Amino acid sequence: MMKNRTILITGANIGLGKEVARQLSSNGNIEKIFLACRNLDKANQAKKDLEYTTGRKIFDIILMDISDPSSVKTAVNALPYAVDAVILNAGGQGGKDPLALSQSGMTNIAATNLLGHMVLVDELVKMNKVKNEFIYVSSEGARGIKGVMKKPNLKTNSVAEFISVLNGSFSDPKFDGNEAYGYGYIKYIGALWTAANSRKYPHIKFISVSPGNTRGTAGYDNLPTLTRFFFKYLLAPIVMPLIGMIHSIRKGAARYIAVLDNPQIENGSFYASKEGKVIGDMVEQGAIFPEFRNTVFQDNADIAMHSFLK
Ligand SMILES: NC(=O)c1ccc[n+]([C@@H]2O[C@H](COP(=O)([O-])OP(=O)(O)OC[C@H]3O[C@@H](n4cnc5c(N)ncnc54)[C@H](OP(=O)(O)O)[C@@H]3O)[C@@H](O)[C@H]2O)c1
Repeated sequence: MMKNRTILITGANIGLGKEVARQLSSNGNIEKIFLACRNLDKANQAKKDLEYTTGRKIFDIILMDISDPSSVKTAVNALPYAVDAVILNAGGQGGKDPLALSQSGMTNIAATNLLGHMVLVDELVKMNKVKNEFIYVSSEGARGIKGVMKKPNLKTNSVAEFISVLNGSFSDPKFDGNEAYGYGYIKYIGALWTAANSRKYPHIKFISVSPGNTRGTAGYDNLPTLTRFFFKYLLAPIVMPLIGMIHSIRKGAARYIAVLDNPQIENGSFYASKEGKVIGDMVEQGAIFPEFRNTVFQDNADIAMHSFLK
């Protein structure tokens, strides 16, 4: 029986975050799901939809912009009581200008995937507002996707090198537009930071998971019109399913639930598709890519991320 009764999900108004809220609500043990979203109208609409489709009135909204530390701190203060688990799901390609610098000095894409989640973890733990576990949503991009996204090509995994990725100054011929603004590098740093947290806060469990390549989310919506049309209406719904390279949003969100409150999943590990795959069974990535288990790299990622806090 799942021990988690109260769960907070970031980026829960659409896509995988909303779908995992829907799936979790079918478990009678779940008493409350906090939808942590940045836009009140979108959050209200999601809450209404979820109540209608699930028949349960267990959804509360917490306003939180995950790229803005002060917004995250306000949200944590507003949280009425400690939650059992938190799914750090918000993220993606960083909006219309991913490489522009946010106020923190991180690029928008890094801030969206990492900055606010780091503040959220630190504040929730500091205020004793989380009891059991955090799930960080990473991606197969963190270890490269054959033919789509090259494996992050880091030389040292030092604090300085991670900082250069986070502030957009990282320089490597492989780090170009095709790498989708360093998305894979950022999700790599996210998985390392999550593992570092499992040692930093040993009373709480920390897992990274990838939903796998998932259709039916809003992930393509900020792409330029032609590219968006190509991905959203041709590649994702027609071509990729034919070649076994994409799965449904139901399967993507089910991966979060597979690792949540699962005693077989080791603290600090990262679960994603098998090598060379973007869907299908999940395996622990540290067994294939030892860098995920390197505690020095993990701590360097944690230090580099924290250096952006003013
Ligand atoms: N779909 C895939 O194939 C895939 C594969 C691997 C990993 N992932 C990861 O899975 C997670 C969910 O992605 P998705 O595909 O479901 O994308 P999505 O449909 O675009 O949903 C992203 C969610 O994140 C929220 N968000 C973005 N920036 C935010 C901010 N600054 N503050 C608060 N919320 C913010 C969005 O809110 P708004 O609606 O307000 O923008 C939305 O609720 C992401 O971390 C993504 O990187 C997805």
